[in-house]
Amino acid sequence: MTAVDAVIRQRLHSDVVLVRQVADYIIGAGGKRMRPALVLATARACGYEGVHHHELAAVIEFIHTATLLHDDVVDESTMRRGAKTANAVFGNAASVLVGDFLYSRAFQMMLSVPDRRVMEVLADATNIIAEGEVLQLMNCRNADLSVDEYLHVVHFKTAKLFEAAGRLGGIVAGANDEIETGLANYGKHLGTAFQIIDDVLDYSGHEEKTGKHLGDDLAEGKTTLPLIHVMQSGNSAQVSVVRNAIEQGSREDFADVLAAVHACDALTKSRVFGEAEASAAKASLAPLADSIFKKTLLEFADFAVLRNF
Ligand code: IPE
Ligand code: IPE
Ligand code: MG
Ligand code: MG
Repeated sequence: MTAVDAVIRQRLHSDVVLVRQVADYIIGAGGKRMRPALVLATARACGYEGVHHHELAAVIEFIHTATLLHDDVVDESTMRRGAKTANAVFGNAASVLVGDFLYSRAFQMMLSVPDRRVMEVLADATNIIAEGEVLQLMNCRNADLSVDEYLHVVHFKTAKLFEAAGRLGGIVAGANDEIETGLANYGKHLGTAFQIIDDVLDYSGHEEKTGKHLGDDLAEGKTTLPLIHVMQSGNSAQVSVVRNAIEQGSREDFADVLAAVHACDALTKSRVFGEAEASAAKASLAPLADSIFKKTLLEFADFAVLRNF
């Protein structure tokens, strides 16, 4: 991870001052670095001994960071990684444009790994993520969203990049098809668990831990899994509180919605769903031989659901 950090620092360079400022600002704020860690651990779990995985891990983190810059503009979020969002500090225009810089820099960097499949995986992943964010926009303020429609968005906007990270670990290590597919499925399930828990933390997290404001999802009318549970199992009063909040509500409805969410045990039910995804992630690692790296991957799956940040 130290080597990845060095690649990130080096590749952030631009002669344009504002690009440097915004990029340093968001990357300097840290982040868990889950996705690059996934590239390294999957590659090493396949016995990889080279250095290409460092560059690919940095590419994945740049793509992730670009999506965060764009996502915070779209979501009108004001806090991320324990600090003001880049859009809150530098404005929407700077955030969108520097997000584009990071995306395109990631594509320049991936050319250092001369493998067409690497490019294919990353080109497809970024395209799917963009579709996921647009799908989510279309689903905004739709109180009748189904679990399947919700999962479709989650698979696209979040799980796809985790899937790409796992698959790239396999590709760079020259793993066989069975292992590469296992790692891709592992990433997909892990990313799904990760997003479900993110959606739970949006109702129950501690801001000093998550580094993000609670209630962002409700404020934008996002129908996430906890709210779908209320819509499907709540009594008529609970359903109507949640429907109104999704359709025309704001942050002021948070307390009432939270009460309905707790009354329906919707956070626990969502967690159980996340745990099942984490178990599926672990099961996908079956074709891999035991190693400390496989153990790390298994621990990532536990972290995705147990985390509070
Ligand atoms: C945030 O991802 C976006 C989601 C998919 C929930 P992370 O929680 O991995 O963000 P950082 O990089 O650690 O800040
Ligand atoms: C994740 O969705 C965004 C992307 C993967 C692009 P969220 O909107 O839930 O992420 P946070 O909560 O802002 O980190
Ligand atoms: Mg967001
Ligand atoms: Mg969120």
